[in-house]
This record gives sequence, structure tokens and C-alpha cells, in this order.
Amino acid sequence: MRIDVVSIFPEYLEGLKLSLIGKAAEQGLLDLNVHDLRDFTFDRHNTVDDSPYGGGAGMVMKAEPWALALEHILGEGPRGASASVGDHDGEKPKPILIVPSPAGRVFDQRVAEDLAGAEHLVFACGRYEGIDQRVIDWAGEHFDLRPMSIGDYVLNGGEVASMAMIEAVSRLVPGVIGNPESLTEESHEDGLLEYPIYTKPASWRQRDVPEVLLSGNHGAIARWRRDRRLERTAEVRPDLIAKLGELDKHDRAVLE
Ligand code: ADE
Repeated sequence: MRIDVVSIFPEYLEGLKLSLIGKAAEQGLLDLNVHDLRDFTFDRHNTVDDSPYGGGAGMVMKAEPWALALEHILGEGPRGASASVGDHDGEKPKPILIVPSPAGRVFDQRVAEDLAGAEHLVFACGRYEGIDQRVIDWAGEHFDLRPMSIGDYVLNGGEVASMAMIEAVSRLVPGVIGNPESLTEESHEDGLLEYPIYTKPASWRQRDVPEVLLSGNHGAIARWRRDRRLERTAEVRPDLIAKLGELDKHDRAVLE
């Protein structure tokens, strides 16, 4: 999978080079490229923003640097020239352009699963009040455009949101997580939150690991874990319980 990120703070994205995502990039499972939006400006101050038409607080990101950066990523527009972008004639899917924004559709595990099957993701990290709408509309002709929010709160820019989405998506790309079994029974994988986990020692500060986990009885352990997932989800996220399909008698009894 190829991932491009455009930001005026490329250093933010350095964190992606750590840990499993960084290793996957080193191994060639992910082709991760971070671009500095200011490299696509040509004035002395590398200006990327200006005041909003119609008035109002804050600044708006200018259209042209974004168009040049995105054309560069498409590989069809020479930098510095206002070259036109060739259209995708249906041979290859358009790259998916994710524009992090609190006004986007909410990103969740289903969206992550869907994006994990894509060949090319591009993240456009806006700052200030946002990006000139005209370049977003223009990009919609060349990319599969997806404004995405990571939750109902406001961040200062798209970098942290992009990192969260990139991490959630890339760990689902085959090979990135060494043991694919770690991807099952985790929160949101099947609509339930995960069960509580424990490691050695079996007794710590007078707190004991639940006995069933020491029993070696795999059926009993699986049942105990499902019960805890059901209980935890009902307590913390009753909205998720409402979305579960038909439950069997035992599950229903746990929830009563
Ligand atoms: N940019 C600012 N707030 C955001 C949010 N909640 N999600 C995604 N991008 C954002």
C-alpha cells in the first residue's frame, strides 16, 4: 500500500517511523511518503494561508500549493507549473484522498477495514480554519475524496487525526502485524469491546487473576471472555449492544 501525507508540519509524522508501522515501511509492505506543503509555494515567505473571503476569524489555506502537492503525488503535474492532471480512465482506481476534518464522516473500524484494501491513500492535513473549498472540489475530480473525522471534538490540524487513521488502517494490511490472531477479539472487531487481560504473577498485591484463566479449560475461558466482553460493552457502550444482531440465550442471560 502506498500512503502519502501532505502537511506544513512533516515532523509530526516522524512518529509513524517507530514501531510496527515503521518496520512495515522498512520491509516494503507500506510505501510511506511525507510531503511538506511549503515545498509547493514559490514566494519568499512560503505562504500557505490567507484571510477568509467574507470575513471571520482565522486563516484559510490557499488552493494552489495544495493543487501542486496533489498533482505531484499523482505524478502527472510538473512542480511549479500549473499543469493539468490527466484523468483516470477506469484502468486503476483513483487514489483515495482523505481530508481530516471535524466536518467529515466519522472514521471507525469498518472504515479502517475498507481503507486497508486500497492501493493508494493520500492524507491532506489542513491547519488553521481549513482549506479553500475550490481545491477540495477540484481534487474530487482526480481522487476518491473522503472528508473524515476521528471523533466529535476539534483538533488544531489534520496531522494527529491522519496518524490515528494511518495506524488503524496499516495494522490491518496483511503482514504488518506478525500474528494475525491479534486482530481478532479486539475491541470493535466484531462489535464488542475486548475482555480484560492479565499476565504473571498470578497474585499481585492481594489481587488474583480470575481462576478460570489458570484452569486450562479452553471452552470455559472462551465463555468467560465473551461474558466479560458483553458486560463491559453493556456498561461502557450500550449503543454498541443495540447494534448487535440476534444474541443466543446465554449472551442474553449475561446482559440481563
Ligand atoms: N481536524 C480537526 N479536528 C478533527 C477531527 N475531529 N477529526 C479529524 N480531523 C480534524
